[in-house]
Amino acid sequence: MGHVFVAGSINMDVVATAERHPRIGETVAGDAVLYFPGGKGANQAVATAKLGVPTTLIGRLGTDAFGQELRTFLTAQGVDLALVKDTPGTHSGTAIITIADADNTIVVVPGANALVSADDVAAAVFAKGDVAVSQFEIPLPTIAAFFKRARAAGVTTILNSAPAKQADAELLDLVDILILNETELGFLTGTELSDSDEPARFAEAARAFTRDKIVCVTLGKRGVLALVERRPLLVPGREVKAIDTTGAGDCFVGALASQLAGGKPLRDALAYANAAASICVQRMGAAPSMPTAKDVEDVLVA
Ligand code: RIB
Repeated sequence: MGHVFVAGSINMDVVATAERHPRIGETVAGDAVLYFPGGKGANQAVATAKLGVPTTLIGRLGTDAFGQELRTFLTAQGVDLALVKDTPGTHSGTAIITIADADNTIVVVPGANALVSADDVAAAVFAKGDVAVSQFEIPLPTIAAFFKRARAAGVTTILNSAPAKQADAELLDLVDILILNETELGFLTGTELSDSDEPARFAEAARAFTRDKIVCVTLGKRGVLALVERRPLLVPGREVKAIDTTGAGDCFVGALASQLAGGKPLRDALAYANAAASICVQRMGAAPSMPTAKDVEDVLVA
């Protein structure tokens, strides 16, 4: 089995639940304030580690109380933190999240995540068969340096281009598998898309990327549309009652990486990742809602 390296953000998610989201300028009464470990990088690393794959996270924490809590939590999930640096003079990444009716809004303040550097990712020691994963919550030049090293070692590179940001062709050329949702696809390709569009419309937009890249467009409960050599493959999702979708995309990415590190074919890996994400949305919080391999197997045989 390969090893998964995740270069990415680590956040404390400060979550307020309410009956509905406030409109601009409005104040609404909330129900609860909750603190969950999160950050797209940490969530994806927890997903792969809980699914039984050796996982190293590369990132930064502040030397604050959140940083200590996050380190303790991630260690307990089995994530190797040897390449996570404590960084004095800044705070740990913090996300302010509002959840109403299972939907969320998120404001992320990067703190130490903004300082993850090319030197930090240079410490990863890759072997063939490993998988390198990143997202857009650390500096883009750092991601490029990470993927350049991974590619040189024959490692599969997975980019989850979230949150939506413009990326240059040089970075995208280093990506083997691009995973994004409808909004991020619209943003990166300059296409007007809505989440109710037909899959064929997403396939058309995703053809803007080079044909050597696998593009996976996550469609929530509708599943995932993958483009392999520009040919569409739709893997349906599972209808479940969602209570909190925060981290579901990260769960999908981590689960897919775990299966590819285990040598599974893409179609099976996508079905597995859909099942994992369907479990995640039925639990509160980001990193704590990642399923174990047993949880996913139970869903797949049901
Ligand atoms: O993808 C969900 C994550 O986005 C949250 O955990 C939050 O920290 C933000 O990074």
